[in-house]
Amino acid sequence: MDDRMRVSSDSQKIFWPLVREVSEDERLMLEGRLGDFELLYAEVEPRSGRSKSIFEELEGKLSPSQLASLPHSYDIVGDIAVLEIPPELSDQQFLVGESVLRVHKNIKVVLAKAGKVDGVARVRRFTHLAGENRTTTLHRENDCVFRLDLASVYFSPRLVTEHARVARQVLPGEVVVDLFAGVGPFSILIAKRVDARVYAIDINESAVELLKQNIHLNKVDGRVFPIMGDARRVVDGKLYSQADRVIMNLPAEAENFIDVACRAIKPEGGTIHYYQFSPSPDIMEEAVDALVRGVEANSRRVVKILERRRVRPSAPREWQVVVDAQIR
Ligand SMILES: C[S@@+](CC[C@H](N)C(=O)[O-])C[C@H]1O[C@@H](n2cnc3c(N)ncnc32)[C@H](O)[C@@H]1O
Repeated sequence: MDDRMRVSSDSQKIFWPLVREVSEDERLMLEGRLGDFELLYAEVEPRSGRSKSIFEELEGKLSPSQLASLPHSYDIVGDIAVLEIPPELSDQQFLVGESVLRVHKNIKVVLAKAGKVDGVARVRRFTHLAGENRTTTLHRENDCVFRLDLASVYFSPRLVTEHARVARQVLPGEVVVDLFAGVGPFSILIAKRVDARVYAIDINESAVELLKQNIHLNKVDGRVFPIMGDARRVVDGKLYSQADRVIMNLPAEAENFIDVACRAIKPEGGTIHYYQFSPSPDIMEEAVDALVRGVEANSRRVVKILERRRVRPSAPREWQVVVDAQIR
């Protein structure tokens, strides 16, 4: 049964949904913050058909302050839940993992992030918390299906909208160079939507192996061409002046590859989708300036900024941003 606690202080009221009584510690803490106040309780009908939350699952097993530290959301990749466990819950992380399994019947594996996305392959370490002991899964996104191994390749379900946004812009007959393709979420979706020729490059052998499987799974063989190697060497070797469009989703490093994108684009011009992390307050200006500077340093010209937008928060006070630019 849900209880609804109402805190009333003079004319101000706070409505605070709780599934339990207020503890003595909490009452004292509220008194410290609010001064004189009055607690009123009201019972409400439980919502039917609602599955339990991990907060409800862990009620009575964790202290109120530990409950308050529980993650409010987590990434779901295929049948794997990926949690960010705050340090104050590290002793209870396996208990938290088990609660996720009980709440989400379609989740078979629970992992915790155990470090930052790191290295050339942009991979993260994980701690296994609960369920089957694996990091491989099948993830569905934008009507495509991707075979993944979170332990050896980069993948973020938070980019789903961005993958679709870029794919929608591609016209039939275009040549697209995806410089940092990973397991193929841009390349495969593009080839599924339009009759384009997509070169999908990645330096991570494991990503390219999965990319090949995903090309087959999504029936885009002969439209997406997987290439294992350093984007710089691949472009200079066989993709010079070939592209109508270049995708540069390596936000930590993309600025160092603007020259590569410029060399890949056809002499008559094309579109660059440029990503970077921006911590400063002028996040979009900084990204646009970096791209324009980089393009001009390579004897080309930005004729139009087609779009600039925040893609997702990447860290506290930091965003991954994208700039779409038409260049000549
Ligand atoms: C942030 S991930 C993006 C993957 C994919 N585009 C996506 O949206 O999920 C960046 C990818 O770039 C690859 N990478 C890093 N340096 C590279 C380089 N010099 N040449 C080619 N690929 C590279 C990494 O292996 C990784 O798969």
